[in-house]
Amino acid sequence: MKIAILPGDGIGPEIIKQAKRVLDVLRADGIKIEIEHGAIGGAGYDADRDPLPESTLKLAREADAVLLGAVGGPQYDTLPRESRPEQGLLRIRKELNLFANLRPAVVFPELANASSLRPELVENLDLMILRELTGDIYFGQPRGRRSLDNGDEEGFDTMRYSSSEIDRIARVAFDVARKRNNRVCSVDKANVLDTSILWREVVTRVSRDYPEVELTHMYVDNAAMQLVRAPKQFDVMLTGNIFGDILSDEASMLTGSIGMLPSASMDENNKGLFEPIHGSAPDIAGKDLANPLATILSVSMMLRYSFGHLESADRIDNAVKLVLANGLRTKDIAQPGCKEVGTQQMGDAVIERLTQ
Ligand code: IPM
Ligand code: MG
Repeated sequence: MKIAILPGDGIGPEIIKQAKRVLDVLRADGIKIEIEHGAIGGAGYDADRDPLPESTLKLAREADAVLLGAVGGPQYDTLPRESRPEQGLLRIRKELNLFANLRPAVVFPELANASSLRPELVENLDLMILRELTGDIYFGQPRGRRSLDNGDEEGFDTMRYSSSEIDRIARVAFDVARKRNNRVCSVDKANVLDTSILWREVVTRVSRDYPEVELTHMYVDNAAMQLVRAPKQFDVMLTGNIFGDILSDEASMLTGSIGMLPSASMDENNKGLFEPIHGSAPDIAGKDLANPLATILSVSMMLRYSFGHLESADRIDNAVKLVLANGLRTKDIAQPGCKEVGTQQMGDAVIERLTQ
């Protein structure tokens, strides 16, 4: 397994350090893992004046999977858009054709109390948001700014999906649903947007190839509401890039902390980029406060989805569960009666469980 590791910015390097220790344990157990490091985001800009340096892209292309920390920081906020850290992330997704973004929102029983919703609403929640990642208004052309004849200025972006793009992400959603509870809820804004009308048509057409999977449709505003009203009604939520960006942050809070959630961004051949869904959290960077579990769980997703190493993936998931059951918590998931630990100590605890 050739893995490209891109720590990025803010808390990225700290959490990646703990995830690497997990890879080291697997390696010590005889799994052949090769690791190379690259710079991305602000780190890429600092090294090469480019948030996605050529050398990093090459590394990522040659790897079987990519493990990423996080990108972004206030010191880069004033750079022109093409130099900003986020562009590194958007470009690597696009260049590697990682169109299918899996964002599970799973509530660990021990953390049901940390949710912003009442525990009974989220207990045993296991929802998968499937976000299309390489299209939509984040990439659509034309975009830009222009001066209008009346002296006003305008900014504009284009929401755009082709039927083939919708078709392929829909198939991933139905495939994922088949391994879960056979339900897909497709989220769009078909009461207003032409893009969404096409989206709904294509998803409905694809669903005929998956008769065992139940398909429903929901408008995005309603979906945002239903997620905090009765989240357990969902199994797989299929949606486009911008709606998925927003809904996946919302869903993360149901689980107690965004610091717990991994993600996978996959291409057509199971090559993937794996990253925690939280950002670079510059305010707590370097303070040993960050929760490394989302990144450690991203390693588990990598083993599961890119390498088919289900046993190792389960092993990591179980180690995380045990550590939580033992009452260890980073600050973001702190609970009365639990022991608060730092990034490194949380890593220690997972490693200890893994090597027992
Ligand atoms: C995410 C992030 C990114 C996105 C940003 C950093 C470009 O919010 O992964 O959800 O919008 O996709
Ligand atoms: Mg986001």
